[in-house]
Amino acid sequence: MAANKTLLMLPGDGIGPEVSAEVTKVIDWMGKRRAVTFDIAEGLVGGAAYDAHGVAITDAVMEQAMNTDAVLFGAVGGPQYDNLGWDVRPEAGLLRLRKEMDLFANLRPAVTFDALLDASTLKPEVIQGLDILIVRELTAGVYFGEPRGMQEWNGEERCIDTQAYTKAEIERVTEVAFDLARKRRGKVTSVEKANVMKTGVFWRQTVTALHETGGYSDIELGHMYADNCAMQLVRNPKQFDVIVTDNLFGDMLSDCAAMLTGSLGMLPSASLGAVDATGRRKALYEPVHGSAPDIAGEGKANPLAMLLSFAMALRYSFDLQEDADLVEQAVQDVLSAGKRTADLMGTGGEVLSTAQMGDAVCAALDKRAA
Ligand code: IPM
Ligand code: MG
Repeated sequence: MAANKTLLMLPGDGIGPEVSAEVTKVIDWMGKRRAVTFDIAEGLVGGAAYDAHGVAITDAVMEQAMNTDAVLFGAVGGPQYDNLGWDVRPEAGLLRLRKEMDLFANLRPAVTFDALLDASTLKPEVIQGLDILIVRELTAGVYFGEPRGMQEWNGEERCIDTQAYTKAEIERVTEVAFDLARKRRGKVTSVEKANVMKTGVFWRQTVTALHETGGYSDIELGHMYADNCAMQLVRNPKQFDVIVTDNLFGDMLSDCAAMLTGSLGMLPSASLGAVDATGRRKALYEPVHGSAPDIAGEGKANPLAMLLSFAMALRYSFDLQEDADLVEQAVQDVLSAGKRTADLMGTGGEVLSTAQMGDAVCAALDKRAA
């Protein structure tokens, strides 16, 4: 067999390890039934890394992440870490991965499954057939802008964060959005607050200029203020195809979009770097949900966002489109058969534990591949 693809699993904290364990089952299935094999390494991140090493991620794990084909990330954080120093808090591990791997394009698709129409708090007709993609800038903006922190201001204590974007940072994420839109319905909505923020004005100008001069005249481009976008997402989400936005607005709008689909437990994501000279791009895949410490260890977590994140890895890092389709279809089969984890209840169906849901997906894969 040809040289294996490499995966680095970073399960993290809370429900991260539980949902990651279910991915391992699907990976084993891929190896057995599709002859798609991976060399898998595992590492610590977040609170788990802090407990073992006193940091949110070690240099050694960072080094592994820089050199693997794809990172599969679970979740980080928990109440026991809430009072740690800024640089060692669990989130710092995730932010360091994003920054040092230069994963500037974060893809967060929100797709409704017909079987889950009733799980959403929105009316079925508003969300049926929904398929939108949020492209969030992930390595700049207020998450990383300098200066930041406490200062003295007219004899008073004050604290600042800085929203900053270079032209190149806006252009490269917009290019990703335009390119992806071309393979979808050809429509991009660029979102900022150009009515109050200078970076918003610059964002809009830069996106418009790239649209005009970058060879994207086939793409339909619209602009929207972020507050209006939040409102439009719950009013009429199907008006959107691809949304491109900055780091902070993307964080908020993607949680909002997630709930359109019924549960945060359904939303996968891919964070991608630039394509290098060898055609390779650094990549990290993670569910949009967090570590959910309140249900950790109880077998209640929904592993589907994590499994769908693995499907995105198959698609974007390994160009295994058929295998990605297969995993996504298996998830759909399981939902259509009425199988649900606790977060999806309220619509009837059969309640499964995390592990049972992983097994159900593998059984659905068996059927599809038979
Ligand atoms: C996300 C999360 C992270 C973010 C946290 C955990 C730092 O909310 O990926 O959406 O704010 O980016
Ligand atoms: Mg978030």
